[in-house]
Amino acid sequence: MKLNDYLTPDELKRLASALLVVLGFISIAAFFGFTVVPGLRYQAHTTDSSVQAVQGETGWLDPTDYPAMAREVIPPIDPKTVMTPNPALMAKGKALYAQSCATCHGPDGKGDGPGGTGLTPKPRNFTDKVAWKNGTRLEDIYKTLEEGIKGSSMVSYNYLAKRDRMALAHVVQSLGAYDHGASDPKNLATLEKLFASAGEVIPNRIPVSRAVEVLSREYAEAHPRATPANER
Ligand code: HEC
Repeated sequence: MKLNDYLTPDELKRLASALLVVLGFISIAAFFGFTVVPGLRYQAHTTDSSVQAVQGETGWLDPTDYPAMAREVIPPIDPKTVMTPNPALMAKGKALYAQSCATCHGPDGKGDGPGGTGLTPKPRNFTDKVAWKNGTRLEDIYKTLEEGIKGSSMVSYNYLAKRDRMALAHVVQSLGAYDHGASDPKNLATLEKLFASAGEVIPNRIPVSRAVEVLSREYAEAHPRATPANER
């Protein structure tokens, strides 16, 4: 069976040119699908990320970039001064909150801080009892500050003195006007023991960016030839 038996040479030519047109369309579509569109998406993606500075480049959102802090020796403290809110504790807690938490959680704890907009999961809204992972009891918030929340940008704040973390826990609770749940007496007793027994030493601390600066300068001084040509 041959095509010639069914089609005149003229019809054959028309069939061939129709096929060519179809092939042409397919290759144009493929060009757009596999080259132009991914290229544009790549371009859009790269311009996006240059507008939104990556965390850590600006420093102000980098959770490792805390302000410098001098060494501090904290003796054991009376649990009564930290287990329930008092004006001095709350004042300290509010100052710390404004300095370390408000960028993400917002000044009123609504989870709407400027640093939280691009985050997944979003910073917790403290004014709402919904979706808390560790919970809203005092000991739960203390645990969050001790360990952070895995898989999120909520890092551990265990570099802060224990009493300061307790102050923050009270401040976080004060931002939500709902029942925070009854604390487990056993958990509270554990916390109280923590404060009453051991004091703590908070070591000197400088921001990571500053440490890197100092380290690389000292390294360059000790290894003059290791400095790249363009920095000599
Ligand atoms: C870099 C942004 C960021 C900063 C700064 C930050 N948080 Fe968070 N925080 C988060 C995110 C994101 C979550 C939600 C985590 C999740 O859902 O897994 C969260 C969750 C929490 C929770 C809820 C935990 C739970 O049980 O679900 C508490 C409490 C909390 N943060 C307290 C604080 C306190 C106090 C500070 C300041 C010392 C602070 N956070 C600073 C991003 C941040």
